[in-house]
Amino acid sequence: MKKLKIVTIGGGSSYTPELVEGIINRYESLPVTQLWLVDCEEGKHKLEIVGALAKRMIKKAGVAIELHMTQDRKEALQDADFVITQLRVGLLEARIKDERIPLKYGLIGQETNGAGGLFKALRTIPVILDICQDMKELCPEAWLINFTNPAGIVTEAVNRYSPIKKVIGLCNVPVGMQKAIADTLETDMKNIRVRFGGLNHMVYATEIEMNGENKMPYVLERWGVQSMSNIKGIEWHNAFVRELGVVPSPYHRYYYMAKETLEDELEKFKQNGTRAETVKKIEDELFELYKDETLEEKPKLLEQRGGAYYSDAACNLIDSIYNDSGDIQVVNTLNRGAMEEFEYDEVVEISAMITKNGPIPLTVGKLPKAVKGLVQQIKSFELAACEAAVTGDYNKALLALMINPLVQSQSYAKVVLDELLEAHKSYLPQFYNKSVMYLR
Ligand code: G6P
Repeated sequence: MKKLKIVTIGGGSSYTPELVEGIINRYESLPVTQLWLVDCEEGKHKLEIVGALAKRMIKKAGVAIELHMTQDRKEALQDADFVITQLRVGLLEARIKDERIPLKYGLIGQETNGAGGLFKALRTIPVILDICQDMKELCPEAWLINFTNPAGIVTEAVNRYSPIKKVIGLCNVPVGMQKAIADTLETDMKNIRVRFGGLNHMVYATEIEMNGENKMPYVLERWGVQSMSNIKGIEWHNAFVRELGVVPSPYHRYYYMAKETLEDELEKFKQNGTRAETVKKIEDELFELYKDETLEEKPKLLEQRGGAYYSDAACNLIDSIYNDSGDIQVVNTLNRGAMEEFEYDEVVEISAMITKNGPIPLTVGKLPKAVKGLVQQIKSFELAACEAAVTGDYNKALLALMINPLVQSQSYAKVVLDELLEAHKSYLPQFYNKSVMYLR
């Protein structure tokens, strides 16, 4: 039988059972022969627990997938076909700091937006670029499927600063939006065609079609709360959404409702802590469940995580590349002229046709004028964040924070930057040791 080897870096993640379930369910079309779960010393304990559950799931399904667990990334990457990155540098403790420190100064504290998002990028990009160097040596033909956040920025950094060009970033937000659009139209997802364009955690549905009819006006008229388990579902004003002309994502609340979202975060911060702290409790519970030797499937509790169905999106994507399906999926990939607002070589989140040679983005053309400024500003922030991450240059990190629309304060930008740099010192060698550079 032909080998098909998938390597998951960050294999000890609580999301792994979902990935294993996705691989098992697609075994006929995607006959994976080896699944490698890789984690570092800090993640070893989680890897052992989740790996044992994965083994039970595979055994129960009766499929011929060899499961390997290792801390030796190079051994795992040798001749891989697909490499999935789902790691969290500094574990949830680092996310808690990303969320708490900005909130202390009255700034949005979120893991992918604003100051928190910048720091997650600064910690993550060097690690991913190292993985890319290993891939160049050990599996240069493999596809890198990244859903490590901030997924758009990480994918941008890989394209810009690594030798790996077969990279695709993934997010579950468009899947959730598609589901909510289908619910609004009181139909099933398979009956509608939705086109997306924008950036990761800043994507818009730009076209909606059902039975050959344009359903955008109908949906905009009724677009209400669509939320996610990790974001407060403040209702949109219909008048605003209608005028916008495209469907915003749940994450747009951080921008269009920045004050309301901040008030909500501050309230929670005072009561039970940030989302990261809630997630930590869910994770602890999940790992208690995973330890149960009679458990042989993904537990329902995993659905309380905002990233539920991520792995399903990853499996769909891998399946379509492997089988050269030519179906449409929403991915983070090079713009290649599909949207006028971005350069040819900038990474965007967009509907694309998935082939064995990768995604071919579908033309969106122009986004409405009303969203153009915001998406371009965020792209500028993303590029500055990438530069800061690869150079370890303090001034570039300050620039990224200052141009982020969620910061809006020179003095707070500096205080928050200094405090986060100090808090994450051990994960940011590029800022402290000038012999560490990731520009290659
Ligand atoms: C959504 C986002 C993901 C993010 C997740 C956070 O799914 O698309 O990028 O990882 O929410 O969920 P959590 O349960 O960790 O707050």
